[in-house]
Amino acid sequence: MSTVSYPDLRDKVAIVTGGASNIGRGIVLAFADQQAKIVIVDLDVDQAERTAQEVKARGTEVVIVSGDLSKPEVVQNSIETAQSTFGRIDVLVNNLGWQRPAWFTELDSATIDRTIALNLRATIDMCHAVLPVMIEQGAGSLINISSDAAFSDVKQSVYGATKAAIISLTKSLAKETGRSGIRANVVAPGLVTPPGNEWVGDNSLWAGDKPVFDERGLQAVLKGIPLRRMSEPGDIAAAVLFFASDLAARQLTGQVLSVSGGYAMPC
Ligand SMILES: NC(=O)c1ccc[n+]([C@@H]2O[C@H](COP(=O)([O-])OP(=O)(O)OC[C@H]3O[C@@H](n4cnc5c(N)ncnc54)[C@H](O)[C@@H]3O)[C@@H](O)[C@H]2O)c1
Repeated sequence: MSTVSYPDLRDKVAIVTGGASNIGRGIVLAFADQQAKIVIVDLDVDQAERTAQEVKARGTEVVIVSGDLSKPEVVQNSIETAQSTFGRIDVLVNNLGWQRPAWFTELDSATIDRTIALNLRATIDMCHAVLPVMIEQGAGSLINISSDAAFSDVKQSVYGATKAAIISLTKSLAKETGRSGIRANVVAPGLVTPPGNEWVGDNSLWAGDKPVFDERGLQAVLKGIPLRRMSEPGDIAAAVLFFASDLAARQLTGQVLSVSGGYAMPC
């Protein structure tokens, strides 16, 4: 899928949360194309296994950690499995995210709690667990997945707030950990629809048979995107690889890259 080559990513160890479906799957396969070793953390074992088979077909190694990342023991297990299997952790991509689009006044308390837990708390917990390892190594790359909703959108208020908080968190971590050789950056996707059914498992927000947009809806969405195309998982993955590579991004930390065809222009 990826056309750019980053030779420094060969044999690097990358953890990707929510790595079984859609954007996470694209990120996993892009790291596999670079011959990195991969830890997929996901609730959906069957879909994670399908994605892992694609990784193995590319000739590199992969291990799956299955479980719900809102649980501290799954966070800890992810870090311990990466270390016991591969001996180090070079890259953490906090890709897991969840939302239920609704007007703010219609959001119930359980939905608000779940949105905060799966977007923000899980990202904080994974950063908290991995940083001692990276600090000990004197090297590492954190890449947190935000969203164009971080810069405001209707029916995405609390989700957008968690995604804005991820940007703030990442910038602070960049300042705190740069002296330890760690870079922390953000990729903020625009709308990314799965390229095919094999890209989504049952827990994906995109699961189901219905087309996401009819032709009229699609044209309306495209009108708001200067480049007039929808983002694909590979577009987001290309930005993630760029930040992960010391060859490409050794002087970049605390940065936010919007991958949205120009829909969002954060700075
Ligand atoms: N798809 C988009 O249009 C879009 C746009 C902007 C930002 N984003 C962000 O990109 C990231 C990926 O989005 P996506 O559309 O690929 O998501 P998705 O819903 O398609 O996939 C999410 C993955 O996470 C797994 N998962 C769900 N809950 C889990 C849990 N509690 N513990 C462990 N794993 C769990 C699912 O099994 C699935 O494999 C998210 O952070 C999302 O907020 C997506």
